[in-house]
Amino acid sequence: MIARAELPPVWSQDVDLRRPPRLVADARVDVCIIGAGIAGLTIAKLLSADHVVAILEARGPGAGETGRTTAHLTHALDDRYHRIIQLHGEDRARLAAESHTSAIARIEALARSLDQDCEFEWVDGFLFAPPGSDGSHLELEIEAAHRAGLSEVDWVARAPLASFDTGRCLRYPRQAQIHPLKYVSGLVSALERAGVRIHGDTRVMQVEGGAPARVLTQSGAVITADAVVVATNTPMNERVNIHTKQAAYRTYVLAAAVPRGSVPRALFWDTAQRADDEGKQGAPYHYVRVANGPSGDVLIVGGEDHKTGQAHDESDRFGRLEAWASERFSAMGDVVARWSGQVLEPVDSLGFIGPDPTGQQNVFIVTGDSGNGMTGGTVAGILLADLVRGVENPWAPLYDPARITVRSLPRFARENLDAATHLVGDRIKPSEVSSLSSIEPGHGALVRSGREKIAVYRDPHGDLHACSAVCTHLGCLVHWNRSARTWDCPCHGSRFSPHGSVVNGPAVDDLAPAELPIPRVANRE
Ligand SMILES: Cc1cc2nc3c(=O)[nH]c(=O)nc-3n(C[C@H](O)[C@H](O)[C@H](O)COP(=O)(O)OP(=O)(O)OC[C@H]3O[C@@H](n4cnc5c(N)ncnc54)[C@H](O)[C@@H]3O)c2cc1C
Ligand code: FES
Repeated sequence: MIARAELPPVWSQDVDLRRPPRLVADARVDVCIIGAGIAGLTIAKLLSADHVVAILEARGPGAGETGRTTAHLTHALDDRYHRIIQLHGEDRARLAAESHTSAIARIEALARSLDQDCEFEWVDGFLFAPPGSDGSHLELEIEAAHRAGLSEVDWVARAPLASFDTGRCLRYPRQAQIHPLKYVSGLVSALERAGVRIHGDTRVMQVEGGAPARVLTQSGAVITADAVVVATNTPMNERVNIHTKQAAYRTYVLAAAVPRGSVPRALFWDTAQRADDEGKQGAPYHYVRVANGPSGDVLIVGGEDHKTGQAHDESDRFGRLEAWASERFSAMGDVVARWSGQVLEPVDSLGFIGPDPTGQQNVFIVTGDSGNGMTGGTVAGILLADLVRGVENPWAPLYDPARITVRSLPRFARENLDAATHLVGDRIKPSEVSSLSSIEPGHGALVRSGREKIAVYRDPHGDLHACSAVCTHLGCLVHWNRSARTWDCPCHGSRFSPHGSVVNGPAVDDLAPAELPIPRVANRE
């Protein structure tokens, strides 16, 4: 299998988002939102008419998972209604379906109100079984979808794909798709016009609940606010609670040129399961859509998920995706983009949106996107705007971050045992390389130095760099990701750049500097 390097997501090839200025002085606002992805920007938009709002963003708007999504806007939830009914009951499954349906409508309304054409389109969605499967999963799912109130979901003989017979499958009418970064760009302009202060390059290090609450940034500037919303994809404001109830997964995407109109505008998913995810029923292993390209369409195909920090074949996964896609889409041309991203899988299959579960006063969180975070982030906008205003919302109990779902306890135990096993077991493993000379340029490896493990990276010029391999969240050891070229933590999904800076939380501190495990003189070998 040929290892393929990542290329920037197809969305960033035609949208260049400017980084807003850094926060340099203390400020007092009504609402401080941390994170400028779809969740943070939507919450800000829905509060900006009657609140003074500031957004603090570690990088720039859309720089997180929102810039890496495939932006299928759907109520066909990844975790499937038959599982959601098992875990939460029929009434709550109806609320879940209703909230994601409302989110699609809200995205349409917001997109149409922006100056920017966000390429929002209504399309059908098709869920099909992979070859060799008996289709019983689809039988279960259509019955569950109807019980959840999605009565329009129906059977069709096959998805409308000329070169690929999916077999009998489910059709979900009135789903949608969008260009995520054009949507982000439009929201940012609208927020700036409404007087919302957006600060980029402003990493938040700590949140203190209270009346008012305080947000402490890396530069020392502090924001004081009546309410704080932590919309950082995975909460950075607390270390344990929520992170025991969800697990981070990497997922892979490629985009390939296809002639305009050769693949119909629709959303497609199969029901294959992730090989390493026995607790989850029917997670989509492949997801497909079409978007506008510079001279034709682009076919976007995703899948090959694995738990963050726990694979050793990351870059081979693009090859497998490409093989899967080219077998099914005869019109597929050159691959124009190839990227990976992160999703957070809650153990009981629904997002966590609401008051901070550790009881921090006037602090709210949104997380647990589970591959449906474009609608999930919009649900958060609607729900948290109500909660911040003190208005009751019927979705609040469903998404309460403090909930404990008894029927998900086996998966809860499995995920936490897995983290504990890494915390202890990875420390006693030997060095990953016999000598530093075997670390290739552009890659890294863990090397033992006495009792410590050092994360050693060789840059493209051949120079070696070292930092501690101990994740600054709760102390598991990071693992080199050959595809994204990052240090990834197998416990709760924190990720760090080759030189140790935080890329994804929950960690907020960079990896500690360390000495190379050999004398400096051997730096260039
Ligand atoms: C490959 C892929 C495909 C997907 N496909 C779909 C799909 O088809 N449909 C769907 O609905 N969902 C999909 N998802 C999920 C969806 O894209 C995400 O759930 C969603 O974009 C998350 O939005 P967010 O605002 O919560 O997080 P993000 O977009 O990650 O935004 C969080 C922001 O917080 C910032 N931040 C983090 N820590 C700090 C800090 N300490 N201080 C300040 N700022 C901080 C980050 O820089 C980031 O910009 C997909 C995800 C991936 C990766
Ligand atoms: S992410 Fe929790 S220990 Fe690394």
